[in-house]
Amino acid sequence: MKDCILRLLKEEKGRYVSGEEISGRLGISRTAVWKYINALKEEGYEIESRSRAGYMLLGAPDLLLPFEVKEGLGTRFLGKEVHHFSEVRSTNDEAKSLAGKGAGEGTVVVAERQIGGKGRLGRSWASPAGGIWVSIILRPAFQPLEAPKLTLATALAVTRVLREETHLDARIKWPNDVFINSKKVCGILTEMNAELDRIHYVILGIGLNVNIDIMDFPEEVRGTATSLMEELGKPISRLQLLRSILREEEKVYDLFLKDGFAPIREEVRNLSYTLGKWVTVNYGKGMVSGKALDISESGALLLRTDKGRMITVTSGDVGEE
Ligand code: BTN
Repeated sequence: MKDCILRLLKEEKGRYVSGEEISGRLGISRTAVWKYINALKEEGYEIESRSRAGYMLLGAPDLLLPFEVKEGLGTRFLGKEVHHFSEVRSTNDEAKSLAGKGAGEGTVVVAERQIGGKGRLGRSWASPAGGIWVSIILRPAFQPLEAPKLTLATALAVTRVLREETHLDARIKWPNDVFINSKKVCGILTEMNAELDRIHYVILGIGLNVNIDIMDFPEEVRGTATSLMEELGKPISRLQLLRSILREEEKVYDLFLKDGFAPIREEVRNLSYTLGKWVTVNYGKGMVSGKALDISESGALLLRTDKGRMITVTSGDVGEE
């Protein structure tokens, strides 16, 4: 009902809508209208109430509320169901729990803040207000081995959106980051629940630093992380960005299901931050160094060591030499 009132006020933006009209159009009492208006004000909507005139919407907060996210989204399945939290431990954990209860493909979980945000390799992920912390549930019919390619496809979706909407030189750092001006602006954590040959669900967790002051990051990442606001010198609408990311994610996912990894690989190579650089990869059991030459058909990173040996790395942490 709150969403209906908001939609109505938005349709009539710039004019007062009387409590009587709202109550008549939505079939609720005027006291109920008043209560919902107050709830909207609590959420940060700027609504002017004038006796005898009614209510007028003056401004909306930059919150990622389901109603706002879904408005004009135009996707086929992604984002049809959106769960929003002001504060949550981790959207990936929430998404996992929803998926375990049968939530459908394309379900989205988004939070304004995470207090236990998770990064790859057991690290924590700083998630103050101002970022986009979102998880997407997918249920692909392909083999679990294909899942890492989905991380690259998602990095591509985010990179495409950032390039299009900010005109910044966003690039994909293998295997799961998006970099701008040699700093990390986005990380992706893919988690999966599967049998050996069948995926139950995949959770794609995207963390994008949008309107965050660098001083709000933990000290240890201040030198290596950035936000869109830092790079652009001004804040940018998170809502618009999130909608674009969901649209683009659906596009790359559909492309992947239809044509396989080849077209995605091609674009990932062209937009790569990693290829051509001398890198050191920490793959858990040790380190290898070499020149990053290519991304293979399976999504692995191909390196050539200084001795000319070719090495295929399927996962790990990449540092620059
Ligand atoms: C990384 O670079 O290590 C991956 C970071 C992924 C962070 C996102 S934020 C939304 C989702 N929820 C989490 O707890 N983590 C992912």
